[in-house]
Amino acid sequence: MNAELKTYCIIGDPIDHSFSPAIYNAAFNSLGLNCTYIAFRVQKDELRDSLDSLRAINIGGFNVTMPHKIKVLNYVDYYDKTVEMVGAANTVNNDHGKFRAYNTDVIGFIKPLHERKISFNGFNVLILGAGGAARAIVVALAHEKGIANINIFNRNTDGSEKLSNMIKKMGLESSIVSNNNIQQVASKSHLIINTTPLGMKNEKSLINSTNIRTDAIVYDIVYKPINTDLIKNAKTAGAEVVYGYEMLLKQAIASFKIWIQKDPPLDSMKKVLFGMFGEPV
Ligand SMILES: NC(=O)c1ccc[n+]([C@@H]2O[C@H](COP(=O)([O-])OP(=O)(O)OC[C@H]3O[C@@H](n4cnc5c(N)ncnc54)[C@H](OP(=O)(O)O)[C@@H]3O)[C@@H](O)[C@H]2O)c1
Repeated sequence: MNAELKTYCIIGDPIDHSFSPAIYNAAFNSLGLNCTYIAFRVQKDELRDSLDSLRAINIGGFNVTMPHKIKVLNYVDYYDKTVEMVGAANTVNNDHGKFRAYNTDVIGFIKPLHERKISFNGFNVLILGAGGAARAIVVALAHEKGIANINIFNRNTDGSEKLSNMIKKMGLESSIVSNNNIQQVASKSHLIINTTPLGMKNEKSLINSTNIRTDAIVYDIVYKPINTDLIKNAKTAGAEVVYGYEMLLKQAIASFKIWIQKDPPLDSMKKVLFGMFGEPV
C-alpha cells in the first residue's frame, strides 16, 4: 500500500443505517487498495458547505443518498445523460478537481433482471412509489423492449401524475393507480416493484399475496430486512422474487468502477453484507 491514501464517502440524512462503508471498505481491502470509505451525516441545509469541504479535502469520490440526490446537481461541474433523464445522481467522481455526477441506480436496478434473462414482452408493470429511485427505475425500464404499460401508485397523487407523465414522454403507456384499484392492477401485473420505504420497519405490504400472479416477478428495492412483507407475500404466491440487496450491490459495483476503473470483488462485498443481515432464505 504505497499509493497515497484516497478517501471516499457517502453523504445523506439519516445515514447511520448505511451499509456502504462496510461494502466498499471490504472491496478496497480485498484488492489491497490504500482507500477508505466513510459515512457523513449531511443535513438538508448543509449540502453546499459539505460539497465545498469535500472539494477542499480532495475527496476521491462520493455517494449521495436521501435527501440530496436532486439538489446535488446544483453543486457539481458535470452530469451525464442518464442523470439528466432521471433528474438525480447517486455517485460523484472527483476528476482532477471537477465533480462529475452519475446515477448508478439505473444500471443497479436492471442488472438483476438481465441476469435472470427476463423478456419484458407484453409486461404490465406496477411501480409502488414515485420518488428518486422510482425515476431511476423508469429510465432503466424505458430502455427495455416490449413493455405494455407502467402503472404508478403513490400515496401523493401529484407524485404519481409527474412520474406517469415522465413515462409517457419517454414513449411508453402509463396509468395512475389509486387505493381503489391497486389490488386489481396488481393481479394483472407481470412485474411489481416496491420503491417506497414500506417494509423497512416491517410494515405490511401494499399488495396482498392473493393479488400476486404465480408467474409474476416481485422486486422490492428495500434491502433491510431482506424478507420484507412484500417479498414474503410474493413467495406465498409462488412468484419469482428479486431482493433489494441485489440492486444495492449492483449500483455499488457500478460506482466502484467509476472511481477505481476496476471491477470490485463481488464475493467480499456480498460476504460483508450477508454478515450484517444473514443470507436470504
Ligand atoms: N436497493 C437499493 O439499491 C436502493 C437504491 C435506492 C433507494 N433504495 C430504497 O428505496 C426507498 C426509496 O428511496 P427514494 O430515494 O426513492 O426516496 P424518495 O425520493 O424519498 O421517495 C420515496 C417514495 O416513497 C413514498 N413513501 C414514503 N413513505 C411512504 C409511506 N409511509 N407509505 C407509502 N409511500 C411512502 C413517497 O411517497 P410521497 O410522494 O407520497 O411522499 C415516495 O414516492 C428507500 O427505502 C431507499 O432506501 C434502495
